[in-house]
Amino acid sequence: MRSKWCRAFPGLPEQVAHARHFIAALLHEQGPVDDAVLVVSELATNAVRHTLSGSAGGWFLVVIGLGDDLVRIEVVDQGGDRVPRLCDSTGQEEGGCGLRMIAACAKDWGVKTWPEGRTVWADLAREGV
Ligand SMILES: Nc1ncnc2c1ncn2[C@@H]1O[C@H](COP(=O)(O)OP(=O)(O)OP(=O)(O)O)[C@@H](O)[C@H]1O
Ligand SMILES: [Mg+2]
Repeated sequence: MRSKWCRAFPGLPEQVAHARHFIAALLHEQGPVDDAVLVVSELATNAVRHTLSGSAGGWFLVVIGLGDDLVRIEVVDQGGDRVPRLCDSTGQEEGGCGLRMIAACAKDWGVKTWPEGRTVWADLAREGV
């Protein structure tokens, strides 16, 4: 990665918009802004909704790595009982499929598990920007 940026946000739903503005400002004219905003929005929402990041005093981190060919977006959460999983493609499930959308627009994505949380990450191509 040529450079790496990181910012912590309180684990509140309204902070997801701040995470979107953070990444949009950072990638302005040098990255796939629309896809990056979508990815960070889904990942930050998941952190707040599905992990301890959304409990009192919680937080999540957004880490953005700028490489020559790709942008890596990472959201670090505080973990909990749930595990990230792709919803099944029949679309009959309650709720949507944020991770499935990310899987569709990212070159690659994945989950790293830490003792007290997780990182969900996605790589977006920078070509054509
Ligand atoms: N960071 C995370 N930590 C733990 N579990 C997660 C995390 N992100 C997602 N999950 C689990 O994976 C499921 C699928 O996530 P996904 O984002 O695809 O759908 P959703 O959040 O349920 O709905 P939508 O994103 O469309 O509002 C979630 O319902 C949740 O149980
Ligand atoms: Mg989601």
